[in-house]
Amino acid sequence: MYGTHTTYYESHRFNYAWAQINNLRLLPLFLCYDSGVFTPISKEDPFILHIRPVNHTDADMLFTFFEQLDRETNFLLFETGERILSRQQLEIRLQQILEGDSECMWVVTGEQRISGHLGLRRGNVRRNRHAAIIAMGLLQSCCGQGWGAKLLQHAESWARGHQIHRLGLTVMPHNERALRLYQKQGFVIEGLQKDSLLVNGMYVDEYVMAKILT
Ligand SMILES: CC(C)(COP(=O)(O)OP(=O)(O)OC[C@H]1O[C@@H](n2cnc3c(N)ncnc32)[C@H](O)[C@@H]1OP(=O)(O)O)[C@@H](O)C(=O)NCCC(=O)NCCS
Repeated sequence: MYGTHTTYYESHRFNYAWAQINNLRLLPLFLCYDSGVFTPISKEDPFILHIRPVNHTDADMLFTFFEQLDRETNFLLFETGERILSRQQLEIRLQQILEGDSECMWVVTGEQRISGHLGLRRGNVRRNRHAAIIAMGLLQSCCGQGWGAKLLQHAESWARGHQIHRLGLTVMPHNERALRLYQKQGFVIEGLQKDSLLVNGMYVDEYVMAKILT
């Protein structure tokens, strides 16, 4: 049901072995050579971060992740503590995502924690099942290393395999990093929702963006 599982274990194992053979102290490696391209790896956990679909055992890590994410950024919908009220409720949400056929979520994760996520939800009636909306967020420690683009590529590849024709999202106009990422990945601005959010007492606009999968 979900997209490909990207892992960088193999190449890291190679680098690790190389460092040991040469009796060198192991240094963090921030680039990984994977299928002909260099891919950035998180500075925080350079050897084990990868992207995979969420699973039933992720509730605790997701709870901690969302709590930190909403504390770190004002670019997302939820204020701190507002997204999920309890771990039990998160477990129920996870179950809904995993057992339904309208939602998916991928995470950027190491062994101990989740550092980023992308959620996708498609319409649930025949006239809008071809259209999906996405939302994503990375912890600060994980930003600026290419994970945003990788998450979008996973979502797009899954969408293409599941008869989704349109991917949509919203973004605040002053979120320049996100805007740049989405435009680079082929999303276009379709319009502006005036004063659609209230952030720290100020009304904030949102661009509506979409990518048509041809
Ligand atoms: C927005 C987000 C998903 C982007 O993912 P990312 O992996 O950090 O993206 P990158 O750092 O690779 O940046 C994407 C592009 O924006 C550019 N960029 C970075 N900071 C920028 C800034 N302040 N202004 C303009 N462009 C910027 C990068 O150079 C890159 O462009 P390039 O590939 O041409 O170099 C991630 O930063 C994030 O989750 N932020 C917090 C939550 C959030 O804003 N979510 C999105 C809500 S719509």
